[in-house]
Amino acid sequence: MSLDYRVTGGGPLRGSLRVPGDKSISHRSIMFGALAEGEIEVNGFLEGTDCLATLSAFRQLGVRIDTLAAGHVRIHGVGLHGLQAARQPLDLGNSGTAMRLMTGILAGQPFDSVLIGDESLSRRPMRRVTEPLKRMGASIETTEAGTPPIHIYGGRELVGIEYMMPVASAQVKSAVLLAGLYAHGKTCVTEPAPTRDHTERMLMGMGYGLERQEHVVCLHGGGHLCGGRINVPADISSAAFFMVGASVTPGSDLLLEHVGMNPTRIGVIEILRLMGANIELLNEREESAEPVADIRVRHAALQGIDIPEALVPLAIDEFPVLFVAAACAQGVTRLSGAAELRVKESDRIQVMADGLQALGIRTEVMPDGLVIEGRGYFDGGEVETHGDHRVAMAFVIAGLVARGEIIIHDCANVETSFPSFLASAQHAGIDVEAWT
Ligand code: S3P
Repeated sequence: MSLDYRVTGGGPLRGSLRVPGDKSISHRSIMFGALAEGEIEVNGFLEGTDCLATLSAFRQLGVRIDTLAAGHVRIHGVGLHGLQAARQPLDLGNSGTAMRLMTGILAGQPFDSVLIGDESLSRRPMRRVTEPLKRMGASIETTEAGTPPIHIYGGRELVGIEYMMPVASAQVKSAVLLAGLYAHGKTCVTEPAPTRDHTERMLMGMGYGLERQEHVVCLHGGGHLCGGRINVPADISSAAFFMVGASVTPGSDLLLEHVGMNPTRIGVIEILRLMGANIELLNEREESAEPVADIRVRHAALQGIDIPEALVPLAIDEFPVLFVAAACAQGVTRLSGAAELRVKESDRIQVMADGLQALGIRTEVMPDGLVIEGRGYFDGGEVETHGDHRVAMAFVIAGLVARGEIIIHDCANVETSFPSFLASAQHAGIDVEAWT
């Protein structure tokens, strides 16, 4: 039976909240920790089902990983050459990050691997990683359509390449760099626009030499990763729901604590500020090679804008909730240059447009974006998430400014990135409940 949510309003959003750990950094902490020499101690690890799929996959690859307390994990690294063949296909659930990055790692192993996923992941494009990895000498098969399952045949000699990425993708960049750890010579990746750089920061933090220029990052194969500690900051992509919620709900004054502020992730703050949001960064600091801050958000009147295309990769996961902000703004908001949204956990352009329309918001769907006419409030109604966690949470925020209740279908996958979402939303002042 599907898990639905019912939102009946709420707000203002007040007080303080620490959302769970960053998903991208949590995945990488397990993967790179497994490949390190020595122990890696992780605090603030996100226990969402996506990162737990990565954790379980590395256990199946022979890595001992102790879960010590909430968000506290100890990984007994086996070194770059210590992984062992898994006995069964590795099930990565809903997680594109797990599948794409692990394809890079497993391409360099002496054994074969098979990667599978759920219905959504089984539809997602994988040629973007298999194509450059094959150029490096890897032997990999997908379906005819370039989708999972992925069969990786081990024992191939990899050689470094210079790869110009056709899409701005941190997952592709990371997969190629991770295969580069196993390749002869130098591997370089050039990105068409800056994408999140957690891989580069964590590799450097673990003592691996990288050469970085503006749009190019290179590494040499044959080094090693050192153990140590990683403190994972709160996920800005999860905090984003509450940034929008507090911005659009009169009387709100919310503090989001210890949020990761990596410059390649803060597009959501820049876009909201361009729309007129009142967002203040407090107590800026650095932890485990990542900038962190507390974010104070107060209600403000938002205006529609043309979203600068340069900000798109820096806010790529936040568009579902930014569309909700646009619907609450005065005037029209236009997004273009965001075709990537169509190949996320769902087609986020179409699925969001359908949901917004069901709640009385006018939109125009473009191949690479969306035009949204702001109205300031939503009608009540029912929306479909197509199993997309961020769509589900975005419509909970819409419920704060709706003139009737909103029923949101198929919300179980909120567990993938934000398992405590309902409790956090209720704590912040949103009237939402699971609805069966
Ligand atoms: C991620 C990169 C992004 C993002 C995803 C996580 C990562 O995908 O959408 O949620 O951890 O590297 P792309 O790099 O494919 O844009």
